[in-house]
Amino acid sequence: MLSSITLHEVPGIDAGLREALHAAGLPTEDLEDEGRTFFKAVSDEYQTVGYSGLERCGDDYLLRSVVTLPEHRGLGLGRMIVAGTLQGRGGSGDAFLVTTTAASFFSTIGFSEVSRASVPAAVLATRQLSSICPSSATIMKLNRPST
Ligand SMILES: CC(C)(COP(=O)(O)OP(=O)(O)OC[C@H]1O[C@@H](n2cnc3c(N)ncnc32)[C@H](O)[C@@H]1OP(=O)(O)O)[C@@H](O)C(=O)NCCC(=O)NCCS
Repeated sequence: MLSSITLHEVPGIDAGLREALHAAGLPTEDLEDEGRTFFKAVSDEYQTVGYSGLERCGDDYLLRSVVTLPEHRGLGLGRMIVAGTLQGRGGSGDAFLVTTTAASFFSTIGFSEVSRASVPAAVLATRQLSSICPSSATIMKLNRPST
């Protein structure tokens, strides 16, 4: 059983990242555009178990490219990958994501669906929201802890 992961930054051209996203049906066409940071998740046994990415949108972030490699799914790693990726954010902006397949996964880890009308312009302007993902895709925002 895996107990922890470490995130290592990788460039958008990383072959493992591309292959994992392609196999999961996630977008790869904008990986090398500016303003994106990608991570490889490595287990405590030095195995690559998944990937993730963050895209800066003004003060906010788009969480993207979240994938657990198929043989490692269902072990809590997706949750750890998302938590580790979001910890790396600076500032106080909000985290958004867009998904066509995994809204129920993200709702178990603190995201809620939001309407397009409530999403900041810089997030709507990302390639993922403006052209790559269908307009029917679900947009979600990380819930802020109640104070
Ligand atoms: C979505 C994905 C990242 C989940 O990874 P994972 O490592 O299997 O997830 P975890 O084991 O950490 O699961 C965390 C929780 O979400 C639930 N969950 C996992 N996948 C789910 C899914 N597809 N639908 C609903 N719930 C899901 C788990 O049951 C678990 O809940 P629990 O803690 O109450 O038991 C993985 O299925 C994947 O890589 N899918 C393909 C790529 C994708 O769709 N990425 C998201 C778009 S950005």
